[in-house]
Amino acid sequence: MDLVIKNGTIVTAAETYVADVAIKDGKIAMLGKNLDVTGEKVVDASGKLVLPGAIDVHTHLAMPFGGTVSADSYLAGTRAAACGGTTTVFDYAIQRKGQGIVETVEARRAMAEPEACVDIAFHCAITDLAGGSLLEEFEAAVSYGVPSFKCFMVYKKEGMMVDDGTLAQILLKSKETGVLTNVHAENPDLIDIRIAEYLSRGKTSPWYHYMSRPEFVEAEADHRAIHWAKALNAPLYIVHLANREGAEAVTKARDQGYEVYAETCPQYLHFTKEVYKREDGRNFVCSPPIKGEESREALWAALRRGDIQTVATDHCPFQSYEKDWGKDDFTKIPNGCAGIENMYPYMLSAANEGKITFNKAVEVCSANPAKIFGCTEKGTVSPGADADIVIYDPEKDFTISRDKMHSDCDHTIWEGVTLHGYPVQTYSRGKLVYDNGNFTGEPGWGKFVKRAGRK
Ligand code: URP
Ligand code: ZN
Ligand code: ZN
Ligand code: ZN
Repeated sequence: MDLVIKNGTIVTAAETYVADVAIKDGKIAMLGKNLDVTGEKVVDASGKLVLPGAIDVHTHLAMPFGGTVSADSYLAGTRAAACGGTTTVFDYAIQRKGQGIVETVEARRAMAEPEACVDIAFHCAITDLAGGSLLEEFEAAVSYGVPSFKCFMVYKKEGMMVDDGTLAQILLKSKETGVLTNVHAENPDLIDIRIAEYLSRGKTSPWYHYMSRPEFVEAEADHRAIHWAKALNAPLYIVHLANREGAEAVTKARDQGYEVYAETCPQYLHFTKEVYKREDGRNFVCSPPIKGEESREALWAALRRGDIQTVATDHCPFQSYEKDWGKDDFTKIPNGCAGIENMYPYMLSAANEGKITFNKAVEVCSANPAKIFGCTEKGTVSPGADADIVIYDPEKDFTISRDKMHSDCDHTIWEGVTLHGYPVQTYSRGKLVYDNGNFTGEPGWGKFVKRAGRK
């Protein structure tokens, strides 16, 4: 064997047990108690947890947005991912008017492949159907390995928004072709009206980013997207869900038997809207904004019940000088935060503190993302699966600070937050890419993950 990890406690979404893991050619070859095999490398994981690497299904690396480009390249973003136990990163390739779907993804793939330090997959964000002709390309996109598309229900002036008619057409065609439609749900008209109102009254601080997009602005769009998914009987995945009413709508739709999924992010599970009153409030500006405590607790409850299935980061960092563009006008703050290195450690720490089980942390960060998005060789520790493995020390405390992070962003909203337990090693297809605080991987190692469609 290339590598044998001995005596660790294996945690999957379903099970927890002590065993050895033997790895050969990037795959898990054998799994069992006291395996009688020799390994070129042997790691003792006694007292440690052995987990599947996390799958972050929502990132924006090198994304042109907010008048600039998000601060992490494919190299920096996937390096930071590796150091936080994330072994597969899904990026959003944004279609520009006139571009085809596969063309859009291929361009981003060409940028990503020489740089990726862990495996990389893509969703395509569709912004324009080219009079309907783009619908004819859905099957080709599925064959190419990209069976999930996103619709932004906002960002009109950025040229990314789709209207309800377009969303409905995409949902219908998605159902037919085995595609899952993702939505960023907020109501653009309400936001515009509220922004104009606050700016006209000289209300320009980051708090008014929250005030212009409060709970009901997001909830309305959640209801609307769910309405169309139900009416067309098409599967729907709501990204970065951040409000209680939306979580209730997802729960209700699922109880009625509809295939509606929801993702939330660590920033919505940890912080509340009060952060926008802080001196560094602009660093927390993301859309949808972080909501009140009632929403935060509802998100945890929905996660525990299984009504929210995934946790992902929406990693989209901007440097301090870029965030500063909005010092005197919150609308000029580029939207997004860094989180790719923090998600799995944060969720595992929550498990360590008893907020959820370790199995649940694995389920929402790895097993469910793999299942929902067709990564058939990932999301678990079992024979035949990719050897994407995290060794986690439940006794090691870690206080997050910018100098310990591996992103190119010059600050972190997680500064000073102490986590209980932390990853000590990350393996990507059997290769050690993170070792006790240090990145040990290499650009170009990460492979494009060709995903399976839903048919
Ligand atoms: O504020 C955010 N979330 N920026 C990234 C783009 C998006 O909406 O996901
Ligand atoms: Zn979004
Ligand atoms: Zn996003
Ligand atoms: Zn502790």
